[in-house]
Amino acid sequence: MGFTFFFRDFQTLDLISEYVLPTIRQRRYINIWSAGCSTGQEPYTIAILLKENIGPMLFRNVRLIASDIDENNQYGTIIRDGSYPAKELKRIPPEIFERYFVPDPERPGYCLIDEEIRKRVEFQQHNLLLLKPVRDDLSLIVCKNVLLHFTEEERVNVLKMYYHALNESGFLIVEHTQKMPEALQGHFEQVVPYAQLFRKVNGRK
Ligand SMILES: C[S@@+](CC[C@H](N)C(=O)[O-])C[C@H]1O[C@@H](n2cnc3c(N)ncnc32)[C@H](O)[C@@H]1O
Repeated sequence: MGFTFFFRDFQTLDLISEYVLPTIRQRRYINIWSAGCSTGQEPYTIAILLKENIGPMLFRNVRLIASDIDENNQYGTIIRDGSYPAKELKRIPPEIFERYFVPDPERPGYCLIDEEIRKRVEFQQHNLLLLKPVRDDLSLIVCKNVLLHFTEEERVNVLKMYYHALNESGFLIVEHTQKMPEALQGHFEQVVPYAQLFRKVNGRK
């Protein structure tokens, strides 16, 4: 299993609220890609953040594509079921936990995510190194703790794919340890100097 958990990185969530949502909420449809999503905690966390911040009407137009290479063919079922061990949910702020989780009646010790959140997240088994995006009108791509597994050349190719899959001035978030490679200079601007949140610079090849 790819290591992951709910509300893993509060700084990233704050950055999405502060810099990404004010722009993307102006779009009629909001498409987000969580690339390398493991068992779904990251895309579900982002879906909850959006539900909390953009209101119920616009939230209906949100589509979160959660993808992973999922070598053992397990993640799709876990994500679609939306049922997670209660002991892994302790990091979730209590008021959020109460609003979005209930005990799973069919699995003692597990909690189910709210159906409205589940409906917005769709899983695709997908290998990033094939360089074919899951779709190409994305407002935000989140790819955390994945690029470190790739060679420099693979990283450049995957980041270029992200560039072309983002819509005008779309946003990209990668993990703290990833610097934007030289080959991609000019394709993205760093939104804040202290975090790996980037905005697409339009019109590059
Ligand atoms: C450490 S997990 C990261 C999960 C989540 N993004 C997070 O930060 O909490 C890394 C994930 O990358 C996935 N992965 C590795 N190589 C991949 C590839 N070529 N295409 C798609 N996913 C890949 C792994 O299967 C794993 O689930």
